[in-house]
Amino acid sequence: MSTLDFIYRRRSVRKFKADPVPEDDIRELLKAATWAPSGKNLQNWHFVVITDARKIAEIARLVEDKNAKLAEYLTDEAKIKTFRGSVPYHTVFKGAPALILIYASPYETIADLLTEAGILPQAEALRYGRPNPGIQNIAAATENFLLAAASLGYGTCWMTGPTYAAEEISACIGFAKPGFHLAAMTPLGIPAESAGANPPRKPLDEVVTFIR
Ligand SMILES: Cc1cc2nc3c(=O)[nH]c(=O)nc-3n(C[C@H](O)[C@H](O)[C@H](O)COP(=O)(O)O)c2cc1C
Repeated sequence: MSTLDFIYRRRSVRKFKADPVPEDDIRELLKAATWAPSGKNLQNWHFVVITDARKIAEIARLVEDKNAKLAEYLTDEAKIKTFRGSVPYHTVFKGAPALILIYASPYETIADLLTEAGILPQAEALRYGRPNPGIQNIAAATENFLLAAASLGYGTCWMTGPTYAAEEISACIGFAKPGFHLAAMTPLGIPAESAGANPPRKPLDEVVTFIR
């Protein structure tokens, strides 16, 4: 038992029991999400909680339809097959008792200001925007949510795959907040699968450099 077990307990869960998640638990997890750090303490996130099983199923259908539509634009047969084959990974929330949509609003950086002012060539200004602190804020909140959920025994799966149907999803649930777009989502529920292992990680030495 290590104090870091709350990290190692989390894994992506893609099948869930139907048991509903008590709203108090969802609120606790969302509070943990908002405890994440954010650049300028902007807290540029908004969470939409869906527990209506029909809506969750409808969202999965919208993703399936949009995937089929987008596949028509591809010309390479192998890429079409891969993209179409990703549908099950874009709809893993199908049978979950809750789906959390994570919306993001922009975070203005020097890259935006320079691009706007036209002072630097756009390519150079865009380079300064690569760290994208706005999305880092969202990622921090999402990871907090996932770790907190695992600590309470819930399964989650960070998902960006289905965001190509963002507009259709937002229209389906009737949610709109000016300046916000759908950045990620996660199902939430009790895992149905027997606890498997996380996929392997790259060796630490491959992804770490010490400058001593
Ligand atoms: C930004 C991001 C997007 C992801 N999108 C999806 C997704 O759309 N569908 C999915 O099944 N898993 C998705 N995942 C989960 C990854 O596949 C998973 O985290 C990775 O394989 C490592 O497995 P683990 O989470 O069990 O440790 C996503 C993860 C991240 C961080």
